[in-house]
Amino acid sequence: MSGPLTGAIRVPGDKSISHRSLMLGALAVGETRVTGLLEGEDVLATAAAMRAMGADIVREDSGTWSIHGVGVGSLLQPTSALEMGNSGTSTRLLMGVIASHAISAVFTGDASLSKRPMGRVIEPLSQMGAQFEASPGGKLPLRLQGACPAVPIEYRLPVASAQVKSAVLLAGLNTAGVTRVIEPVMTRDHSERMLRGFGAELSVEEVDGERVIEIRGEATLAPQTIEVPGDPSSAAFFVVAALLTEGSDLIVENVGLNPTRAALLSVLRQMGGSIEELNRRDVGGEPVADLRVRHSALTGIDVDPAVAPSMIDEFPVLFVAAALAKGTTRTSGLDELRVKESDRLSAMAEALTLAGARVEEAEDGLTIHGTGGEPLPGTAKDCAVTTHLDHRIAMSMAVAGLASRDGVLVDDTSPIATSFPAFNQLLEEARA
Ligand code: S3P
Repeated sequence: MSGPLTGAIRVPGDKSISHRSLMLGALAVGETRVTGLLEGEDVLATAAAMRAMGADIVREDSGTWSIHGVGVGSLLQPTSALEMGNSGTSTRLLMGVIASHAISAVFTGDASLSKRPMGRVIEPLSQMGAQFEASPGGKLPLRLQGACPAVPIEYRLPVASAQVKSAVLLAGLNTAGVTRVIEPVMTRDHSERMLRGFGAELSVEEVDGERVIEIRGEATLAPQTIEVPGDPSSAAFFVVAALLTEGSDLIVENVGLNPTRAALLSVLRQMGGSIEELNRRDVGGEPVADLRVRHSALTGIDVDPAVAPSMIDEFPVLFVAAALAKGTTRTSGLDELRVKESDRLSAMAEALTLAGARVEEAEDGLTIHGTGGEPLPGTAKDCAVTTHLDHRIAMSMAVAGLASRDGVLVDDTSPIATSFPAFNQLLEEARA
């Protein structure tokens, strides 16, 4: 078991909000200024794509990003393929943006992204008039020809996905009339908040238990000054690490607590985790607090599948917490985890098992029998867990390593740079 995590650390900017700041800044007329932008590979892929379509995007020495947008409807034809790397959010949201512009684009990605389903955005964007030539199975690489004019649609989301919702809303920006998205289950609402902030005409109504979002095109966006709050999905690794390691008393500063993102904290509290919210405030239109996390004895629970959309990226690290809890933790309703940067159910079942945890994998969730606070054995010598190009598997298993006797060997830590380049450095700081 590692020594305690103490002191105060500050997590980097929210990935979802960072992508959206660059996209909307590039679609506004005038200069948008962004502080706290996440400078991870995924977000930099979005910046490069928006530059390739005409926006002027510069990082100033102070760390502030300045974006001179081209205006909705005025994106330029990119002259080479848009390289999306590992980033599903860049890909799906940009497909939405381009779908209603009179340009075409080729999207390429790494081995992980090239396996992920794009049919879920191709379907509604085709209804709006965009044309696609995709690789078999609706995968990358693919070519998209935008429709101009595009047709407004009403689309009920068949999967709870903020990326699909956002793709349709972004396509609606340059589509005359009203584009309507119906969400049977609410997902993160950063797009709605930010589109409104940039001056788009967007309304949200609850009808018969469903969320109905309407956006009116052809919108004119006004440039904004944006402060990006810290990413709760990045904070999650430190929160769990502090809960699991004896003697820990850690402050994680500047954590975004948008209710559509914060379910991990309530689940960990239900398990007995001591997590206090200090200095609650508003940053860039999003609730934020500093979290004080103390080492706690955790107890396994049945996780309500209804919370899944509000902690969809946090399950890998929750599985690590469950592996150290007393008793059994059961999760279900997690089919979406199979189509993330990796199949996170099978990747985590395999990785935790290698580290000595007792895990059963079902079609839509994991059941984990915890150690009751005893450290995991850790991986055997020369037996590394496979991260499958997935940053969250790598970071979750690093946390498992801290809570193990012999440490956990991870085959490839390079994916961490997609969302959290300073992860290692912050971990060293907190352990010092
Ligand atoms: C995101 C939405 C989620 C999440 C991803 C970021 C977003 O994906 O897993 O990391 O920024 O909209 P899905 O829409 O596929 O659930």
